[in-house]
Amino acid sequence: MAINYESIEVNEMSPACGAIIEGIDLSKDLSNQEFSEIHKALLDRTVIVFRDQNLTETQHVQFARRFGDIQPNAISGFAKHEKEPEIDILESDADNPPYVTLDLWHTDFAGREKPTLGTVIYAKDIPPEGGDTIWVSSYAAYEGLSDRMKAHVDGLFAYHNAYQNYDETVRPELWEKDYQVYKRESKANYRPALHPVVRTHPDTGKKGLFVNESMTSVIKDMDRRESSFLLSYLFEHLRTPEFQYRHKWRKNDFVIWDNRLSLHYALFDYTEHRLMHRVNIVGSKPI
Ligand SMILES: [Fe+2]
Repeated sequence: MAINYESIEVNEMSPACGAIIEGIDLSKDLSNQEFSEIHKALLDRTVIVFRDQNLTETQHVQFARRFGDIQPNAISGFAKHEKEPEIDILESDADNPPYVTLDLWHTDFAGREKPTLGTVIYAKDIPPEGGDTIWVSSYAAYEGLSDRMKAHVDGLFAYHNAYQNYDETVRPELWEKDYQVYKRESKANYRPALHPVVRTHPDTGKKGLFVNESMTSVIKDMDRRESSFLLSYLFEHLRTPEFQYRHKWRKNDFVIWDNRLSLHYALFDYTEHRLMHRVNIVGSKPI
């Protein structure tokens, strides 16, 4: 789809999704025209990258707030920034591996009633090698299904359980540590969320596949084995390279992705320090 931009340059990075945006300094106040073009680029490309940005923590949060309310910080278990507690600190190296969503494709907070609308990440320190993130376009994945399979999955609902890969029985070592996200009280009050398998994007009206191997546990009203085979197939289908954009991070990259119809995978193939600041935007109930 050809879209005309006047105040920014949008360089598409793969057919399915991803773009690098040139010609804008996000530390300056954005005009309505600039913001609406950025918003359009996000809807069109799912993940957009601004290189070499120089922003304060407050400006990071303010940028995210233009897209919606900021997700209350207690929802995620990450450490918070001292000055701007709405910023999650994602920090790892060989001695401190990321402890969640490791080697699992996922959509952030899909196990909640209202998964986040999007995520804004600011790359503060990047290892010399490794640490890429791969995004998958859920639109491309849905479009890549045969018409027969589309008809089969349209109208189905599935449960998303945020804890299925982190439960005490699965990863007991996590529960010995005091990570906030695994506090027993929050788990005691947690119930899996029921979402449509094919989600319609509230802004674009386009359909995408809304299941992920990290959280989607079972398809409602299906025999358990049918559900398990169908989900395995869909998870496999979602790994198709043609649906992806793989981003090699640079320090001061500022990235926003539309979490409503995408999945991502953060590679842990590095030993040196990696530090990201993350802000999550409140989303709506999938339809
Ligand atoms: Fe994530």
